[in-house]
Amino acid sequence: MFTSKVVVLLALSLFAGANSQELITEDSYFFGQSEPVYPSPTISAAGGLWADALNKAQAFVAQLTLEEKTNLTGGVRNPANGCGGNIAGIPRLGFPGLCLADAGNGVRATDLVNAYSSGIHDGASWNKNLTYARAYQLGGEFRRKGVNVALGPPMIGPVGRIALGGRNWEGFSNDPYHSGILAGLSVTGIQDQGVVACTKHFIGNEQETARNQIRDASNVTILSSSANIDDSTMHELYLWPFYDAVHAGTGSIMCSYTRLNNSYACQNSKMLNGVLKGELGYQGFVVSDWGAQHGGVASALAGMDMVMPSGAAFWGGNLTEAVRNGSIPEARLDDMVSRVMAPYFFLEQNSPSYPALGIGMPANPLLPHTLVDARVEEARPVLMQSAIEGHVLVKNTNNALPLKKPRVLSLFGYDAVAPDLNTPGFREWSLSLQSSYARFYDCGYGNLIPQNCPLPVAIAANGTVITGGGSGGATASYISAPFNAIQNRAMKDNTQLYWDFRNLNATGFVQGESDAALVFINAIASEGADRPALRDDFSDALVRNIASQNNNTIVVIHNAGIRLVDQWIENPNVTAVIFAHLPGQDSGEALVKILYGDVSPSGKLPYTVAKNETDYGAILNPVIDLGENGEFYRFPQDNFTEGVYIDYRAFDASNIEPRFEFGFGLTYSNFSFSGLTANSVGANLSALPTGHIVPGGKADLWDVVATVTATVTNIGKVAAQQVTQLYIGIPQEGQPVRQLRGFEKIMIHPNATATVEFELRRRDLSVWDVTAQEWRLVLGEDYNVFVGSSSRDLPLTGTLRL
Ligand SMILES: *[C@@H]1O[C@H](CO)[C@@H](O)[C@H](O)[C@H]1NC(C)=O
Ligand SMILES: *[C@@H]1O[C@H](CO)[C@@H](O)[C@H](O)[C@H]1NC(C)=O
Ligand SMILES: *[C@@H]1O[C@H](CO)[C@@H](O)[C@H](O)[C@H]1NC(C)=O
Ligand SMILES: *[C@@H]1O[C@H](CO)[C@@H](O)[C@H](O)[C@H]1NC(C)=O
Ligand SMILES: *[C@@H]1O[C@H](CO)[C@@H](O)[C@H](O)[C@H]1NC(C)=O
Ligand SMILES: *[C@@H]1O[C@H](CO)[C@@H](O)[C@H](O)[C@H]1NC(C)=O
Ligand SMILES: *[C@@H]1O[C@H](CO)[C@@H](O)[C@H](O)[C@H]1NC(C)=O
Ligand SMILES: *[C@@H]1O[C@H](CO)[C@@H](O)[C@H](O)[C@H]1NC(C)=O
Ligand SMILES: *[C@@H]1O[C@H](CO)[C@@H](O)[C@H](O)[C@H]1NC(C)=O
Ligand SMILES: *[C@@H]1O[C@H](CO)[C@@H](O)[C@H](O)[C@H]1NC(C)=O
Ligand SMILES: *[C@@H]1O[C@H](CO)[C@@H](O)[C@H](O)[C@H]1NC(C)=O
Ligand SMILES: *[C@@H]1O[C@H](CO)[C@@H](O)[C@H](O)[C@H]1NC(C)=O
Repeated sequence: MFTSKVVVLLALSLFAGANSQELITEDSYFFGQSEPVYPSPTISAAGGLWADALNKAQAFVAQLTLEEKTNLTGGVRNPANGCGGNIAGIPRLGFPGLCLADAGNGVRATDLVNAYSSGIHDGASWNKNLTYARAYQLGGEFRRKGVNVALGPPMIGPVGRIALGGRNWEGFSNDPYHSGILAGLSVTGIQDQGVVACTKHFIGNEQETARNQIRDASNVTILSSSANIDDSTMHELYLWPFYDAVHAGTGSIMCSYTRLNNSYACQNSKMLNGVLKGELGYQGFVVSDWGAQHGGVASALAGMDMVMPSGAAFWGGNLTEAVRNGSIPEARLDDMVSRVMAPYFFLEQNSPSYPALGIGMPANPLLPHTLVDARVEEARPVLMQSAIEGHVLVKNTNNALPLKKPRVLSLFGYDAVAPDLNTPGFREWSLSLQSSYARFYDCGYGNLIPQNCPLPVAIAANGTVITGGGSGGATASYISAPFNAIQNRAMKDNTQLYWDFRNLNATGFVQGESDAALVFINAIASEGADRPALRDDFSDALVRNIASQNNNTIVVIHNAGIRLVDQWIENPNVTAVIFAHLPGQDSGEALVKILYGDVSPSGKLPYTVAKNETDYGAILNPVIDLGENGEFYRFPQDNFTEGVYIDYRAFDASNIEPRFEFGFGLTYSNFSFSGLTANSVGANLSALPTGHIVPGGKADLWDVVATVTATVTNIGKVAAQQVTQLYIGIPQEGQPVRQLRGFEKIMIHPNATATVEFELRRRDLSVWDVTAQEWRLVLGEDYNVFVGSSSRDLPLTGTLRL
């Protein structure tokens, strides 16, 4: 969501070639119209989910007047709190209302909360237990603040199609399997605290550019760009992680800003009624992204259940009227309300022990208010561990790391120090760090707007980055910056430190006796704009300047997405490089534990780092197709013609050697892999699933149909966690050569061995059959099986036949 005003002027020059006479004026012009799917499936306790709660919800709905029902579907402004969204209460029934609040990495825009690692950082940890623990602690903070619905995690759309995507950092990974596993665990973690998880954004919203409907300078309406996605790509890539979130019982799902085959995602009956509530058996409610509703009757009939931030524009009195005059069956409204209330009762938010609505969400945290401390002691190790494990070491030569009681260290770079949190610019957006990027917030149309609006910037030269910006921005209690933490360590070790952060481009002098020179740079991203570049000259020059003077230069990059390093990575003086991602408030201390070898780094890249931007081809830049002569000006198009070939699937298919491949990351030890086994489980599998629909699709899609095992040995000198990865090549024309289908992170001591077991579910080995509209196993042929430490370091290979 994105609550600031989105005022955008489109550059007139952009479509200067288009004669307004020739503009297409009807979206029915376009191919691939979305098939209508009606009526909207009603909540049914499919698979037994929330059965008791559904009874309670329906009994509750039975007591409501028509107007009360309507009011449960639309947001209202509540000046008493700072919740991002409010549903008004019904005092006569003792229902206090609902508070919905950001964000995916901590409760946003309030005080006395922790800033956790961001989605990309959690993804880079590849640690399932840690992902659950992070979500559980996050959920606890939402609960104690009186929030009913946490707006993420999980954020699993965008999946990461566009390398420059402005919100990719909010998600876990550019791989849908990886993302799906972490999404399911995050839903469970949040909801185990009694807070409704909101999984977002459904679906196809892969870029910020052209995401919102706007009016141009001549007051012509320009619709959101249309994501034209074919059925099998939809299932095998974009929908994939939503299966896991729905299976885990997510209580809400946010529909996105984009259009899908020219119909808005929040009123797309094929996706909401047909796919989400039909095929996937989803039982919760669909809430609009903030301002993503574009029609009243249409969105209700298409399966949207709640609008935010306000019911007033399309629903409210108009929804009541539409039910009265028969445009919308009252049963649909009843279903909307039942879907909103079932998770509420299931999670026992009606219990007196649930904190009062918005109790810790002051309308303005800078004015006097009741202080509600949401932080607990047991969260501290989780914050720290998740900050540590998302660091990915990608280069380590000459044993540069870990540092060994250095005598002299020199520190450089704008990213080493904490930014100020008390300047006017920061106050505007309350206590949230996102304010540091507010400069380009109002540019909702991304790089189509060269005027009246600063372009997105590549770096935050003001200080270290622990989160991305926008509605996903984390709010910190404090920031442990790299410099603070290194000072602490130097005090303990009696190390001589030299530093120069002010001399930004560091023509700065490197003290000749330095054991190492550390350089801190960053790459930022924020909702509302796609990134301008995957690297920047300014920071690259800084690194080269230092490296030209010191033969043990260690580079740390806080990166909100892919960051290219080819301007200096092969310089032998650059001895170590860490992608430090977005660690949250414990950033510096976590980094120091890795730099000094208190722990081995254990993260792996959840994306592909290319040698050159051009290697990403068509999946580098956001797409806006306005037609050859600008005739689509009112209806921007985006054909997802690359299919499932994004990130490593694309690099593998085109045989492009990346700089650092998906899944890559070093530890301080070495591992060997042996003993691959791959076996099917059970016999006489049918090619298609036969089960009933439960949340997450047909029940047997979740059956384990094969297992793979491998042995991993630590052949190095120190204990370290290794992420062992399983990739599968499905024996069917048009499928990627290999796709991630398992990962396990295990701590292994020197000379010790661990057996890793992967369970393959029916869906993991199936392809989407567009004719049958089912997931189909490929029976009687050999699946290729690969196990190793990254998507390109796969020493174990074998086959599997079902
Ligand atoms: C979009 O159109 C493609 C091509 O006709 C089709 O395969 C796909 O199912 C459509 N998706 C939706 C959501 O309508
Ligand atoms: C429904 O909401 C409207 C707008 O907030 C409010 O004026 C009205 O009193 C509410 N109606 C009921 C029955 O709660
Ligand atoms: C992860 O969690 C599971 C389930 O709680 C537990 O059985 C397992 O031991 C944990 N693994 C690690 C490595 O902590
Ligand atoms: C723009 O068009 C809308 C809808 O036609 C109209 O309500 C509005 O007044 C117009 N605004 C301006 C500035 O002309
Ligand atoms: C219906 O919608 C229109 C247009 O958004 C709005 O101006 C009007 O106030 C609404 N009517 C009711 C009764 O809510
Ligand atoms: C942040 O950096 C920008 C330029 O990069 C500068 O204009 C601004 O004043 C800085 N803000 C603070 C708080 O230092
Ligand atoms: C780097 O610093 C020098 C000296 O302070 C200055 O002349 C030069 O313009 C700076 N370069 C950049 C790219 O900022
Ligand atoms: C490496 O650093 C040394 C100083 O230690 C310097 O003399 C040399 O030119 C540097 N080499 C490169 C390739 O930057
Ligand atoms: C790096 O530079 C130092 C100081 O000039 C020198 O002692 C050392 O041998 C150099 N190391 C390498 C690997 O070149
Ligand atoms: C990428 O390739 C282009 C075209 O070959 C070249 O101009 C550019 O310098 C390269 N960039 C990097 C970072 O190597
Ligand atoms: C998008 O796909 C449609 C249907 O295949 C086609 O007519 C249109 O030209 C495509 N647009 C681009 C930019 O390829
Ligand atoms: C690992 O095994 C090697 C060879 O047997 C032995 O030399 C070494 O001490 C062992 N390391 C540890 C930490 O046990």
